[in-house]
Amino acid sequence: MPLAVRRAVDLLVAVACLAVAGGAGAADVAALESTARTATQQLMQQIGGELKREFALSGTLRSVVVCKYSAPEVSSTVSKRYGAQVRRVSLRVRNPALGTPDPWEQRQLLDFDRRAASGEGAGGIEASELVHEPAGWYYRYMKAIPVADICLNCHGSADSLTAATSAQLAAEYPHDRAVGYQVGDIRGAVSYKILVDPEVAR
Ligand code: HEC
Repeated sequence: MPLAVRRAVDLLVAVACLAVAGGAGAADVAALESTARTATQQLMQQIGGELKREFALSGTLRSVVVCKYSAPEVSSTVSKRYGAQVRRVSLRVRNPALGTPDPWEQRQLLDFDRRAASGEGAGGIEASELVHEPAGWYYRYMKAIPVADICLNCHGSADSLTAATSAQLAAEYPHDRAVGYQVGDIRGAVSYKILVDPEVAR
């Protein structure tokens, strides 16, 4: 093969390889997104399921206690299942130890509020990004959590909380900022974060 032709073939092979590598990266990201969505759904269904069950059985006061102990437990179970960090975050937290967003999460939450204010339905709002941090590359995903009727019992304005609920929340969460919401507001988001192979990020 003449040299010029061989160079051209080499170049074609190189371009083809790059295209394949690019394609593989996109497929990896699609797979990561699909897993993140499943994990998020599981977290929401499990916490929501326990809340509804307890609420129907024993009402608001006992449910506050269930939220306090079962929500962190569900987060930790789902995180272990996926080898990821899966938790709920918010710009106005009830439990600052668990729900305080990091800077990336804060940016997304602010953006989610903007998107909701410009008419996007809160239930469908999500975001994802490959992010480089000192410890490596992470795939990060977040999905908004909208406020529904049942939430108002514990996250609504003063007139939708009973005096007993307010007193219990004040006792359990002296720094509670997670009240004053209305149906359709964004209460926070599920955040999913997983360490990925640097190849995925290329
Ligand atoms: C029975 C009271 C109760 C109800 C009803 C309730 N929550 Fe909560 N919520 C809590 C408590 C208590 C916590 C703090 C849990 C903890 O200590 O981690 C909490 C925490 C959260 C958090 C985590 C961030 C933070 O502020 O600490 C989110 C997000 C959340 N609730 C959303 C909702 C949504 C959405 C609904 C309705 C579907 C809802 N909650 C209904 C009591 C309630």
